[in-house]
Amino acid sequence: MPADRRDDTPKAPLIRLADYRPPAWLVETTDLTFDLHPDATRVRARIDFTRNPDGPGGPLRLDGRGLRLLRASVNGEDVTDRLTLDAEGLTLDAPLPDAFVWECETVIAPAANTALEGLYLSNGMYCTQCEAQGFRKITYYPDRPDVMAVFSVRIEAPAELGTLLSNGEPGESGPLPGGRRYACWRDPWPKPSYLFALVAGDLRAVSDAFVTASGRKVALNVWVRPGDEDRCAYALDALKRAMRWDEEKYGREYDLSVFNIVAVDDFNMGAMENKGLNIFNSKYVLASPQTATDRDYELIESIVAHEYFHNWTGNRITCRDWFQLCLKEGLTVFRDQEFTADQRSAAVKRIEDVRQLRARQFREDAGPLAHPVRPDSYREINNFYTATVYEKGAEVIRMLRLLVGEETWRKGMDLYFERHDGQACAVEDWLKVFEDVSGRDLSQFKLWYEQAGTPRLRVREEWDGRALTLTLSQRVPPTPGQPDKKPMVIPVACGFLGQSGDEIAPRRLFELTEAEQSWRIELPERPTLSLLRGFSAPVILERDADPAERAFLLAHDSDPFNRWQAGAALAAEAIAAQTALRDGVPTLTPAPIAPGVVEALGKALRDETLDPAFRALILAPPSEDEIAQALFDRDGVVDPQVVHAARERWKDALTDALADDLAALRALHRPVGPYSPEAADAGRRALANGALALLARRPQGQADAAAQFAAADNMTDKLAALTALTHNGAPQADEALEAFRRQWAHDPLVMDKWRMIQATSPQPDAFARVKALSEAEDFQWRNPNRLRSLVGAFAMANPARFHAADGAPYRFYADWLLRMDKVNPQTAARMAGAFETWRRLDAGRQALARAQLQRIAAEPGLSRDLSEMVERMLDG
Ligand code: BES
Ligand code: ZN
Repeated sequence: MPADRRDDTPKAPLIRLADYRPPAWLVETTDLTFDLHPDATRVRARIDFTRNPDGPGGPLRLDGRGLRLLRASVNGEDVTDRLTLDAEGLTLDAPLPDAFVWECETVIAPAANTALEGLYLSNGMYCTQCEAQGFRKITYYPDRPDVMAVFSVRIEAPAELGTLLSNGEPGESGPLPGGRRYACWRDPWPKPSYLFALVAGDLRAVSDAFVTASGRKVALNVWVRPGDEDRCAYALDALKRAMRWDEEKYGREYDLSVFNIVAVDDFNMGAMENKGLNIFNSKYVLASPQTATDRDYELIESIVAHEYFHNWTGNRITCRDWFQLCLKEGLTVFRDQEFTADQRSAAVKRIEDVRQLRARQFREDAGPLAHPVRPDSYREINNFYTATVYEKGAEVIRMLRLLVGEETWRKGMDLYFERHDGQACAVEDWLKVFEDVSGRDLSQFKLWYEQAGTPRLRVREEWDGRALTLTLSQRVPPTPGQPDKKPMVIPVACGFLGQSGDEIAPRRLFELTEAEQSWRIELPERPTLSLLRGFSAPVILERDADPAERAFLLAHDSDPFNRWQAGAALAAEAIAAQTALRDGVPTLTPAPIAPGVVEALGKALRDETLDPAFRALILAPPSEDEIAQALFDRDGVVDPQVVHAARERWKDALTDALADDLAALRALHRPVGPYSPEAADAGRRALANGALALLARRPQGQADAAAQFAAADNMTDKLAALTALTHNGAPQADEALEAFRRQWAHDPLVMDKWRMIQATSPQPDAFARVKALSEAEDFQWRNPNRLRSLVGAFAMANPARFHAADGAPYRFYADWLLRMDKVNPQTAARMAGAFETWRRLDAGRQALARAQLQRIAAEPGLSRDLSEMVERMLDG
């Protein structure tokens, strides 16, 4: 049984924010020596402890999991026999001086570590993942972010592992007897253990250099396996742009002489910001036009930037405890969003981010897993790297900037870096900085960190011939553990359009702070309101507008976000109108889709003054999950297959009414010339391929898709064509899938795309295919990317097939979660979120889903990760 299975404890304890105590012991320096071996790596640790004068006192307690302890000493005196070991660590209950040196030697088995947390082997390469609590699987340590130390590391390994990396600056290296080598590293910046990293393998570097604003030279390396060197250029370029951007935007320079990025194939997350040694899922590093899509390039750019930006927001200033996770993640997501907005199109980026927020975070906030941006308790911290902490966390920061203004925002950031550099901070420290620079009281604003649930905003307008009385009211729905909510501070940016479509008054920012508030605004004519411009707050605007008003805003609004929103609302409402309850059962209605609605979109699509990427977003129908959320609010129950059918009708209506326009757009916007991943070309491809996705509902479009599939010289166009064929059940689909498989069978990342297309197909055979592919002999399901691309994609992104009325896919999915939980609890627990919407379903499906959740919960030896997730989903 793997070391981290917890069959000894029935239920992991609840950790509470309110119970935070400073550490009893602080660490000045941590020296580590690794003697690498797949089955028995020896780790020697030498740690300088000093008593924390502000700490609670008490014995020396160190975290440790799955370690074999050989010996331990204090100031050179053996204490091995005086330690009490348990499943979570050790205690030394002996009188200790105020400062002492702890030394210990432990043995771990990287080859057997399938959980991908701590030190593990991936394709013959040693690597680590320590956030949040993986360091305790390497050696005994106060594994908490408020203990920061200067780390020195010595790595000894067989000479075939030519590259030995750790954090900070390289030191001595050289040969050892017996065909071995060593290398030393020292990181001068004190850091918590979660930022420690080590990599050893047969690697190749693609290198460059960066000169900082103050003239220091930094060596940049992207490390990959031999053969992947020609797929690193874009990541390296994105890194340099991110480094420059942080200097220009926030005055933040890099602080070491080397910055390393390593690509690894087995990785639970996207990437990790270890100091000076970022470790990436290879999916977010490797790209060539033939293997990566425009979307992949955009993700690589933003994730490289995100991890780089953590150097200041996360590493130089870190978190006091894991409840403060949003302090580094929300802020760093905000920073990477702004970076992408500057590198590409700010309007398009904002729309994409809000779409994702609604799809992931609103969904979370509306279900049993809802929690505040700063949670107040957890059992397994890995389960709180959520859309709420990340994406709502970024929205809260965006609101703060809007409320204090751009200039004060920058002053606040400067003060934050100045005041807290080198510290482990809490949300209170962050807010205090902004209270000091702005003079505002942010105590009510703090509720955004404390209250879960998406606020609902209602609007009333009264026009008396001279002035508009605008009444805004808010309601925050109850969430698990939080039945009653207080009113929040909601910044509502608002524009006023006259009949001609021009702005008749300057934009206003209303700050709603009470349950209901009114404003009187004198205006030359009765306006059409453009509310919540730029999505100025993460709320649900409950406003019944007639389609004519939406069409007017779609045609005229100067705020690009609201312009898109008007079109998205038209589509969403048209789709919702395709379904109704009949005898309490969701059913399709015969209502035709109003031609005027489709034509309003058609007009925007033909408008050649509009950015193609923006028009591609107008063309994309709302997701099935988003429609389901709206229908649940309306009807109290959702049938995912009815949702799917209604959305298909909308796509048919668009295709029928706009076939000529779509063909023309595709002809006009398919980029010619060599492939470039830049935003302008990517946007044109998005529009052309968005048109193709609809056109391929008809035989002529399928022929066009087959031709594009055969001719495409880049993965974006190839995949778009293959998706159009497969998802529309075209007769050419199987042949194209087979051709693709033959071409790419050697490339696991590309084959993930091939599996994902089939897993997300709405065709009736999708489940059977997913089952067959998952049972294939060569399916490497232990790799998180592989399992997610097939089984995860099916459950998360194919609601019509996942929610089959007979419940067979639920059982299949639960089987996979249980199987994965035995090797990799963190990945299994993250995938369990596919069940989070189960209470939206009809009674029959609810019973089937509940039965599977209960079956998982009852599994003996279930991980702490997965058991917390299923229990919250069952209880919430
Ligand atoms: N610090 C995280 C990585 C992480 C998360 C490690 C959870 C261990 C547990 C990193 O900075 C991060 O946030 N990565 C994201 C991508 C990012 C662009 C939002 C990820 O891995 O999904
Ligand atoms: Zn992050």
